[in-house]
Amino acid sequence: MLVTKGEDDQPPRGYGKTDVSLGETVTLSKPGRTPTLRFMTPPSRVAVVTGAARGLGREFAITLAGLGHHVCGWDVDDQTETMALAGEKYLPLEVDVTDPAAVQAAADLVVKEFGGWHIVVNNAGIYPPIAFEETTVDDWRLIMRVNLEGPFLVTQAALPHLRAAGWGRIVNIVSAVVFLGPPELVAYTASKAGLVGFTRALANAVGADGITVNAISPGLTSTETAARTTGAGGGFDRVRAMQAVPRTERPADLASTLRYVCDEGSGFLTGQTLNVDGGSALH
Ligand SMILES: NC(=O)c1ccc[n+]([C@@H]2O[C@H](COP(=O)([O-])OP(=O)(O)OC[C@H]3O[C@@H](n4cnc5c(N)ncnc54)[C@H](O)[C@@H]3O)[C@@H](O)[C@H]2O)c1
Repeated sequence: MLVTKGEDDQPPRGYGKTDVSLGETVTLSKPGRTPTLRFMTPPSRVAVVTGAARGLGREFAITLAGLGHHVCGWDVDDQTETMALAGEKYLPLEVDVTDPAAVQAAADLVVKEFGGWHIVVNNAGIYPPIAFEETTVDDWRLIMRVNLEGPFLVTQAALPHLRAAGWGRIVNIVSAVVFLGPPELVAYTASKAGLVGFTRALANAVGADGITVNAISPGLTSTETAARTTGAGGGFDRVRAMQAVPRTERPADLASTLRYVCDEGSGFLTGQTLNVDGGSALH
């Protein structure tokens, strides 16, 4: 939306305006003449965040809703709490991202409800710590299905709509484990490294369509699941000791990176993995 402020709306301000807000276009005239200020509000986009019932996914959903976007959360769990925090535009859907039919039905519903689709945050994931020798083929397949096949299915369902819009942001949530390789997370690390490869190759496949694909790589972050699993038994302390920033990562630490990769001005940023881990992996 472009709003042009009339000459009578503002006193002459001359050069040196410093309080320009996001998306605002300012045309400054020569001193002594009234400047014309043009404000461009970033468009409201339609976003899907998977795994939005809690943890990082909830944080991402709230972040995008806070930018004025229409956000639809997909999760196998109840999303009442996310809905309360993300506001009235938030649409929770019960979707298992490993189920192709459920993903397609949810994709159709998003487009029917909002008239399009622009942002995908592939966040749903599982990270059970299991010793490599004890990892069964079922464990391995489940981790690959949720963490790698899920993003494949969701992205494939989204892509025709992002292409139709001529603008899109696909954001894959990976993990700093791809740089660190913790021994108790071999299957998980393999799945997230696969998602990094997916990010790079897909960026090349869709770059000409105005769609970017990036990965955000959190370090060990204080979600309920992490506190119960990887962070338990001194896990948070061990990781904190490896970081340049000596405190435990919080979901809110990832919000600004999500805003950055989804920004209207970030169309030239693609195929990248942005590591946000307090400096535990200086890759
Ligand atoms: N918390 C961390 O320390 C950390 C660090 C690095 C990366 N990550 C990644 O960030 C993401 C979120 O982690 P989190 O700690 O917030 O986890 P979490 O367990 O708190 O949240 C994950 C959400 O995904 C949902 N989910 C699981 N399987 C699903 C499926 N098949 N379909 C739909 N939804 C499903 C769960 O119900 C849950 O709400 C994951 O991909 C994880 O690998 C987390």
